[in-house]
Amino acid sequence: MATRKPMVAGNWKMNGSLELVEQLANAIKNVQSDELDIVVFPPFPLISSLQQQNVVVGSQTVSENQAGAFTGEVDAQLIKDLGATYTLVGHSERRSIYGESDAVVADKFARAQHVGLTPILCVGESEEQREANETELVVAAQIDAVINKLGVAALKNSVVAYEPVWAIGTGKTASPEQAQAVHKFIREKIASADSDLAEQLTILYGGSVNEKNSELLFAQPDIDGGLIGGASLKAESFTAICESA
Ligand code: G3P
Repeated sequence: MATRKPMVAGNWKMNGSLELVEQLANAIKNVQSDELDIVVFPPFPLISSLQQQNVVVGSQTVSENQAGAFTGEVDAQLIKDLGATYTLVGHSERRSIYGESDAVVADKFARAQHVGLTPILCVGESEEQREANETELVVAAQIDAVINKLGVAALKNSVVAYEPVWAIGTGKTASPEQAQAVHKFIREKIASADSDLAEQLTILYGGSVNEKNSELLFAQPDIDGGLIGGASLKAESFTAICESA
């Protein structure tokens, strides 16, 4: 039975400041341990500042293209050179606000791995899709876009984050049972192609995680930690969530 190291990641979204970098970096130092991976995804301009404070950092997205005439885009190679280790790909806000398709997300996943970043593939269903019992259909399609492009082996150097869209920023957290059911589905889906890979794959839960609900969520057998939004901007909350992992 593979033992997966827990991970707690903070997605600052379009929030943050140099002051917050100081606050969170100092707070994270008190909870860092070899038994837990802590990662922070700040807005691009703060990546270097956080990395220089010995915080493991990632980008909230990267371009699927190589460097060139793509105004406003973020080159994965540059993010890597700035000291980032991870990048989110396919966060629901990138999909819904910026129209990123499953195919584009798979291209971003490929570009991230090409430059040596570890992609965190974000998947999840909308409220309507859950009510129509389409959760597994939606999540499977989002994962298949990567498998069909790169093969299941590509998931070896990645993380998957299940973030039900209806739980993001709403305070309506998935119950531990609801989240576990989808995590189990994801792991079994991948195990059907490669059981060893599935066993070692880190699968995070995201969607209104806070210091009150994190322990029960993280106690589920197929939930390996969390991708935290709002609560990651508050040092006390984020460190409490880290300590519960
Ligand atoms: O990427 C994590 C984020 O989407 C979750 O946001 O505020 O519901 O924790 P929040």
